[in-house]
Amino acid sequence: MAKDHDGSTPVSDAAGSGLAHQGGSEASPGTAVVVADPIPNPGFEPERHRVADLDPKKEKAQERRVAGLFLLSIVGSVFAIVAYIVFPIVPGDLDTVRANTFFLGLGITLGLLGIGFGAVHWAKSLMHGHDLVEQRHSTRGSEATRAKALEVFAAGNEESGFTRRKLIRNSLIGSLVVFPLPAVVLFRDLAPAEDPVALLKHTLWEEGVRLTRDPSGTPIRASDVTLGSAFHVIPEGLEESSHPLEEKAKAAVLLMRLKPEQMNISEGREDWHYDGIVAYSKICTHVGCPVALYEQHTHHLLCPCHQSQFDITEEAKVIFGPAKRPLPQLPISIDDDGYLVARSDFTEPVGPSFWERAL
Ligand code: FES
Repeated sequence: MAKDHDGSTPVSDAAGSGLAHQGGSEASPGTAVVVADPIPNPGFEPERHRVADLDPKKEKAQERRVAGLFLLSIVGSVFAIVAYIVFPIVPGDLDTVRANTFFLGLGITLGLLGIGFGAVHWAKSLMHGHDLVEQRHSTRGSEATRAKALEVFAAGNEESGFTRRKLIRNSLIGSLVVFPLPAVVLFRDLAPAEDPVALLKHTLWEEGVRLTRDPSGTPIRASDVTLGSAFHVIPEGLEESSHPLEEKAKAAVLLMRLKPEQMNISEGREDWHYDGIVAYSKICTHVGCPVALYEQHTHHLLCPCHQSQFDITEEAKVIFGPAKRPLPQLPISIDDDGYLVARSDFTEPVGPSFWERAL
């Protein structure tokens, strides 16, 4: 068993063996005394001066190096903006996506690394490197302490050279100002080029557009829609539209048939159904999931995302869940050949609420 300099047994040894001896008598477990730390506090190592502390020429070189890193950051940020414009993403062309992502990432990386490395290099090569001991104290210091803090702050400013080294300070401020610009350009470009309110308020449905099966696109006769059946519907001509996926995301509809006596129709909607056949937007008014589950016995539609339920005997009003508005109804009729057609577009925006919805 190991002994320290005064002959007592260290705690770890006592615990390890289950026995401790003090003054020749056997101590019971848990009564061993922790001895004083035998190793004196070595204190701080003497400060080692760096080349930049001793040679003004080297100091100047380090200063230029730091400024160079901040300037590199500016170049990277500007490069990211230029790359985003010069290498646009062409829909459907993966090579353009790769080029855009690569050069954009390269620019943003340079922008970030330039600031990071510049700040670290500044601190390591030019700011004072001596060790300090700061005692803990209550949150608000006395007036004297606060005055001292200001003094330390001023000293820090003086030692770091933030106000004195104008080249570094200005290049750092420049890189910090320029760095967020790529984000501004990127986020601005996320918005559609056209008026988003008009885009959200209108769908491909208009008077005379046939209701067709999703995804085959075959038209639906009124006689096809039997009691208890449910059709997933898209507007005829969807594939020929310029943005079929986006248009489908707004225009998708569910079609069902009710017995006329089951329907509770509000004023103004008397001719929105055809012989008990009703069409409702498939886009949940909560956050836009497809409401794809139809319970034929209760005539409830269920959104699988957060369990909102809509009662189509009550014009798809919400009977459960987080959705706040009924599913918009598509007014329908039939054409001369007996196919179901829309009477108009939806009379309100489909899907979740958005800021300008009521405008
Ligand atoms: Fe339908 Fe949330 S998206 S309930």
